[in-house]
Amino acid sequence: MLTLARTDSPLSLIRALNPLVTAIALALAASIALSPDARAQVAERSGKDVVDKVCSKCHATGAKGAPKIGDDKAWASLASRGLTGLTESALKGIRNMPPHGGNPGLTDIEIERAITHMVNQSGGKWSEPISDVTAAAERRGEQIVRTQCAKCHQTGVGGAPRIGDRAAWIPRLKRGLDFVVRSAINGHGPMPPRGGMADLTDSEIRAAVVYMFNPVGAPTTVPPEAPAARPDPNHVVVDGTEIYLGVVAAESLRAQYAKGSKESSMHGGIPGGKGHYHVNISLFDSKTRGVISDAQVEATVADPVMGTVTKKLELVALNNIKSYGNYFRMPGKDPYAITVKIRRPGTSRTIEARFNFRHD
Ligand code: HEC
Ligand code: HEC
Repeated sequence: MLTLARTDSPLSLIRALNPLVTAIALALAASIALSPDARAQVAERSGKDVVDKVCSKCHATGAKGAPKIGDDKAWASLASRGLTGLTESALKGIRNMPPHGGNPGLTDIEIERAITHMVNQSGGKWSEPISDVTAAAERRGEQIVRTQCAKCHQTGVGGAPRIGDRAAWIPRLKRGLDFVVRSAINGHGPMPPRGGMADLTDSEIRAAVVYMFNPVGAPTTVPPEAPAARPDPNHVVVDGTEIYLGVVAAESLRAQYAKGSKESSMHGGIPGGKGHYHVNISLFDSKTRGVISDAQVEATVADPVMGTVTKKLELVALNNIKSYGNYFRMPGKDPYAITVKIRRPGTSRTIEARFNFRHD
């Protein structure tokens, strides 16, 4: 439950994670504007549905210069540009046409279907795109979830976080999307490895997790796990050990965990006052992807004013996932150099990683 988050609001918590989660968080922020029933809806909407609810606002009457539904000539000329071209401009927005028709919760396929519906209402004869054609090789998150993960995650069998139940997913995702995906790959407790579907690739699992977090606004393509253009500053690999740093404000832990709970009493209890943070290190073996839970871990936090503090990080077990943590005082806005020393059993060497951490 603990880690990568740094402030109190759930949104800034997830924004502290990686770019994909940030993208989801932004889509989530935008989707708050949707009506509650639109948000609750898990299934893809049909083209007609989307047009009736969203696009017709302008396209029924031709408001703001929108090509009017039923204006065969206007749509024939648009249709000549093909679905891909039209979808691109509907997603991006063009002049008075807002991106996603003003509804960021719509998926690409829903936009494609809406366009197809408007074309067909205006003399065209396009066939409605189906999800399967967009992903021949890679199965989409939604399909995987529907065929497999929903068995437990639809109703929450065995305590499984439910599809679209963001309150249940956010605390898990705070540990980082990669972390949660890995945990789904490995399985734990009643959650079977790879969700019980052994042939799923890692990136398919990733897509499924993203879909379960945000079924309505989920991106249709999920970037692969490859360390892309923006590497995660809180993740390094040293000597076959993957090291993830997470920092969370003590106040937000106090708000999150009841007095007397296991989480609230670790390391002698959550410190009072401002400026205290829980520094958490998660370790994985990069070959086996297994959680490393038998290492000795120590962290040194250098504060430009208050000097340097070194503490042993204690093993914490949250959600059956083991990691290492302790509290440090880090009240300043300047970057903190956090140096982590790790000794794995059976090795004489100490691994060292250094992070530059800055509060948002
Ligand atoms: C707030 C009004 C508004 C809403 C809502 C709206 N549109 Fe539009 N749309 C426009 C306007 C205005 C244009 C004409 C833009 C231009 O070419 O100047 C347009 C143009 C388009 C085009 C042609 C784009 C191009 O490249 O020429 C497509 C396709 C389209 N809209 C699809 C949609 C879909 C799908 C929805 C619903 C999901 C939607 N629109 C909702 C106002 C709207
Ligand atoms: C047999 C029931 C079952 C199936 C099928 C299943 N899950 Fe789960 N899943 C669970 C349960 C129960 C938990 C909660 C386990 C816990 O936190 O201890 C869970 C938790 C998770 C988590 C959170 C892990 C974490 O560390 O917080 C992820 C991610 C996840 N499942 C992904 C998937 C995906 C993806 C699929 C489909 C490919 C899937 N699950 C299929 C039962 C299932």
